[in-house]
Amino acid sequence: MVTPTSLAGMNATLQEVAALPEHAAQSLPGRFYTDPDYFRYEVETYLSRDWHCLGRADEIPRPGDYFTSQLFGEPLLVVRGDDGAVRVLSNLCRHRGMPLAEKAGSTRRFVCAYHAWSYGRAGELVNAPRMRDKGVSAENCSLPAFRSEMWNGFIYANLDDDAAPLAPRLRQLETLLQRYGTGEMRIVRSFEEEWKTNWKCLVENFMEAYHLSVVHPETLHPYTPTGLSRKSMADDAFTSYCANYPDTAATRGEGAPGLTPEERRRSTLFCLFPTQLASQAATLLVSLSIQPLEVDRIRVRWTLSTYADELTQDELEQRIALWHEVNREDREKLEKMQLALTSRHAPSGPLAPRDYEGTIWDFYRYLARRTAATAPALAPA
Ligand code: FES
Ligand SMILES: [Fe+2]
Repeated sequence: MVTPTSLAGMNATLQEVAALPEHAAQSLPGRFYTDPDYFRYEVETYLSRDWHCLGRADEIPRPGDYFTSQLFGEPLLVVRGDDGAVRVLSNLCRHRGMPLAEKAGSTRRFVCAYHAWSYGRAGELVNAPRMRDKGVSAENCSLPAFRSEMWNGFIYANLDDDAAPLAPRLRQLETLLQRYGTGEMRIVRSFEEEWKTNWKCLVENFMEAYHLSVVHPETLHPYTPTGLSRKSMADDAFTSYCANYPDTAATRGEGAPGLTPEERRRSTLFCLFPTQLASQAATLLVSLSIQPLEVDRIRVRWTLSTYADELTQDELEQRIALWHEVNREDREKLEKMQLALTSRHAPSGPLAPRDYEGTIWDFYRYLARRTAATAPALAPA
């Protein structure tokens, strides 16, 4: 496959790659992961118009609890109101643009650190000192709210006011998760890191089982070896695979009462396109939210939640340490690969059989669907 040299050429290549039959699936050439113009194109055409997971609703259990986030340069304030609803507000003072909050906390009012305008927990302007005659009011100077939805305890936001709702797209994913009690799982810890990789590389890495026994010989191979992994459900909204535990692996907990023995002995990994990656097991739910920053830089926010009180604090700390180590192992590979992918020879190589890399083929078809509508508007190759 020839490396394309224009956006239109790249889009044509993406459509070609996505149209390959599953048994002949190929990866995308390196330029899709390294070209800053292509990254800007992705952000403008679909990334900034799709739903992104920001975190878990039980990170902010009480009215006034909040955490801050960011999507494509847009500062966000995720806050629980007095009515119990979670809102995703603009984290920017309506006076002259000072960020209103940092990190996470709990507050009755958001008071701007610059000139002390204050806002309530639903973003309504409460007070603007010395502005009585300036026509400033809650009607014209409250914090704008972004579209948001809750699903299974996850908080999602969309910067596009006209986007189609998320929940109707999740019916099949719901059937995959329905017995795990995903919505009731309780947050244990959250972390944020910056990785020097393209956002798609992490999606592909998290969603393929081919590397598990090679990159994670001590951390994952003993209980989720490549050879036992099986591709699972997929549709327009997501893809998934099951990482099955060998009979020799110790039990990893019972979890929700309705789980089948098979469900107790596997982790189901899913990607809710485009940027949420999660591993659902009986007693543990790990979810990574990717915030693409630049073509070769992402922020990763990950949360670790557990089912009821089955795992002891020691066991939870061991799982957290394991996930840190697994992420470190993946990150090292992805950061090296990112540098190499700028090569003029960065290949389009054959993907492994469907149980191991079929999820990447699904991801490419998502990418192709999201860019197909915009392709005719691009200059010809
Ligand atoms: S920028 Fe917030 S009060 Fe002036
Ligand atoms: Fe990995």
